[in-house]
Amino acid sequence: TKMQTYHAVSTYRAWRHSLPPGSTVGVVPTMGALHAGHISLARAAATENTHVVVTIFLNPAQFAPTEDLASYPKTLEKDLEKLEELNASLVDKVPGRVAAVFVPTVAEMYPAGIPLVRDQQVGTFVEVIPLSAKLEGGTRPHFFRGVATVCTKLFNITQPNTVYFGQKDVQQTVIIRRLLTDLHFDIKLRVIATEREEDGLAMSSRNVYLNGKRREVAITIYRALKAAEELYESGEKRAEVLLQRAREVVESAGDAVKLDYVSLNEPQLLEEVEVVEKGKEVILSAAMWVMPKGEGEGTVRLIDNLILS
Ligand code: PAJ
Repeated sequence: TKMQTYHAVSTYRAWRHSLPPGSTVGVVPTMGALHAGHISLARAAATENTHVVVTIFLNPAQFAPTEDLASYPKTLEKDLEKLEELNASLVDKVPGRVAAVFVPTVAEMYPAGIPLVRDQQVGTFVEVIPLSAKLEGGTRPHFFRGVATVCTKLFNITQPNTVYFGQKDVQQTVIIRRLLTDLHFDIKLRVIATEREEDGLAMSSRNVYLNGKRREVAITIYRALKAAEELYESGEKRAEVLLQRAREVVESAGDAVKLDYVSLNEPQLLEEVEVVEKGKEVILSAAMWVMPKGEGEGTVRLIDNLILS
């Protein structure tokens, strides 16, 4: 059967209710501009479920007015082609395939508007405290409220057995885990490894903003994390020393890039770690801006992380 695209909650629900008993649904939430990272989530979902649902929704609630909502790449036709290609590559090898793509409009997702955006004072949102204020929350204070709210809506609409999220956005996975637990969602979470370009740069829909020299310096964030990881593996366990190593790598790249933060946190409450203890996993994460080089270019903010264990 053909991959179906649904734009409305009602038509999606009719399909969801028509699935035979014993079906399992794996849902992959995305904002589109699909790349190999998104596809690896969908592939994992296809190996573990009878039906994969990919959602494509550029969620205005998670963008600040100063951010790149308007310029965010929109490539729906290509996205659908990539999912069809994935399906073709999957034939007979795994139980599932991408059966449905849910592509709602903003009006369909927020029929009553978005609370607190443009001063709208009525409505419902979901916030996972204090996790949403940490790390990314420092620079993007309302970001995770937008993410948690839209994911709650998407989970209620799509009715997954399992949801698939990328390690690339590690804080997002920590927040979604907490959200699923706290709101008693009967949904399992799977976190899938970060897909990288050949030089190590984590794949991201925003990498299309990087060309030439800016693409070259973008790798600095991964190099900085790797340098700290190497130092850790050679026996250094003090966070401040590890973080200083990462900062030095970013500084040595000059003013083409600017560090936002680099941090070591434990994986439940994202509390800062001072010394990495034996047998405990910690998250080493960073955010960095690639600065504009020429006319009409904006700053590009990149995030990446490694798990030290
Ligand atoms: P988006 O940035 O489109 O990412 C969708 C999913 O793909 C996320 O789970 C993300 O972690 C994963 N992903 C992105 N780059 C990846 C990479 N290089 N390797 C592996 N996985 C990767 O994250 C969002 O959208 C939104 O916040 C969303 C959850 C859809 C809510 O709007």
